[in-house]
Amino acid sequence: MSSGGSAVRRRRALLPASVAALLVALELMVLAVPAAAAAGSGFRCRPGSRPVLFNFGDSNSDTGGMAAARGWHLTRPEGRAFFPRPTGRFCDGRLTVDFLCESLNISYLSPFLKALGSNYSSGANFASAGAATQPRDVPFALHIQVQEFLYFRDRSLELIDQGLSGPIDAQGFQNALYMIDIGQNDVNALLSNLPYDQVIAKFPPILAEIKDAVQTLYNNGSQNFWIHGTGALGCLPQKLAIPRKNDSDLDQYGCLKTYNRAAVAFNTALDSLCDQLSAQMKDATIVYTDLFPIKYDLVANHTKYGFDKPLMTCCGYGGPPYNYDFNKGCQSKDVTACDDGSKFVSWDGVHLTEAANAVVAKAILSSQYSKPSLKFDQFCRV
Ligand SMILES: *[C@@H]1O[C@H](CO)[C@@H](O)[C@H](O)[C@H]1NC(C)=O
Ligand SMILES: *[C@@H]1O[C@H](CO)[C@@H](O)[C@H](O)[C@H]1NC(C)=O
Ligand SMILES: *[C@@H]1O[C@H](CO)[C@@H](O)[C@H](O)[C@H]1NC(C)=O
Ligand SMILES: *[C@@H]1O[C@H](CO)[C@@H](O)[C@H](O)[C@H]1NC(C)=O
Ligand SMILES: *[C@@H]1O[C@H](CO)[C@@H](O)[C@H](O)[C@H]1NC(C)=O
Repeated sequence: MSSGGSAVRRRRALLPASVAALLVALELMVLAVPAAAAAGSGFRCRPGSRPVLFNFGDSNSDTGGMAAARGWHLTRPEGRAFFPRPTGRFCDGRLTVDFLCESLNISYLSPFLKALGSNYSSGANFASAGAATQPRDVPFALHIQVQEFLYFRDRSLELIDQGLSGPIDAQGFQNALYMIDIGQNDVNALLSNLPYDQVIAKFPPILAEIKDAVQTLYNNGSQNFWIHGTGALGCLPQKLAIPRKNDSDLDQYGCLKTYNRAAVAFNTALDSLCDQLSAQMKDATIVYTDLFPIKYDLVANHTKYGFDKPLMTCCGYGGPPYNYDFNKGCQSKDVTACDDGSKFVSWDGVHLTEAANAVVAKAILSSQYSKPSLKFDQFCRV
């Protein structure tokens, strides 16, 4: 399972000069450390423990946290395909993280800030719509999400110390899987303001935040990590609907090459960061899963999955080619959603439909896009 130095070297040789320079700038000296120290050894989970999952991220994995925090009253058609009512998820149904919970046979993660109806015995979700890594001290940046986790952990352990019931004990925190899916909002924000080369040059502080989050969790006893790369940003209707002079930046599937190149470069750097962290944290297991090829495949090979219009929203305004209007989001009064969301990749221009999330989850569960290729659904299985 170890990715030897030559594999790493080969990978680096394929990189554009700007990314290679970035890796050096990040001091990701993967070649200088023993290859993949923690790779192959599997997750740490004591026999008899049940799976516990903590998630950090943005709206891609927000199960209702931001809606609870801001008092948003989302209305239908959000949630219509499954719950079947709005839950605070930006989707017609389940998110990828929900399908991953199903694979572990645990209940869907309750948002940390949802006061009523929550059950934290299988973990908690700190992901918040709109979240980025930067700036780090605003609600609910990744850094704040990690602080919220530490607050949650301390309260749970305090209750148990007092002889009351806390949802998770010390061993539960240590055995849990810590999942991070963030970066889309950071990379998108950069791309809307700067030319490509300058965007790439601004990745190191984003990666430094992810590194800090993992290290902080690790220093507090966490051992199992699952980190997602970002998706095919250039295939999002919200990006495609930005007026352009001509179509020279579109690829063969109609996606924006520049956005996708930036997403791939970000993921390459994140992958290297995971190598570096695995080498440093010998008693941790860090799985990196690249969501870019998974989400790009949804568009490129959409007919294979029964999707008709991979670049058009189901819930949006304006009609073809993208059915996206910056002033009329899915929740606007005069927006009517499509009849059958399962024919669409994009729910609202930014977020995927439940049908697309199901395909993404299946690809994650295949472990084909993961390094090391541990099986997500085998986490904490006896
Ligand atoms: C899943 O959990 C339910 C109870 O929560 C239990 O009845 C069932 O046997 C479990 N299934 C597996 C495959 O572990
Ligand atoms: C919370 O979920 C756990 C595991 O699914 C279950 O055993 C427990 O009864 C639930 N607690 C409440 C208060 O519903
Ligand atoms: C948690 O991590 C932070 C940052 O690394 C550290 O300062 C703190 O001491 C840790 N707390 C515990 C209880 O280990
Ligand atoms: C298309 O637009 C880009 C700038 O967005 C420009 O560099 C390029 O020359 C244009 N191509 C054509 C064929 O007009
Ligand atoms: C489309 O599917 C084929 C066959 O599974 C695969 O080889 C190819 O990489 C996919 N294309 C993209 C862009 O993901």
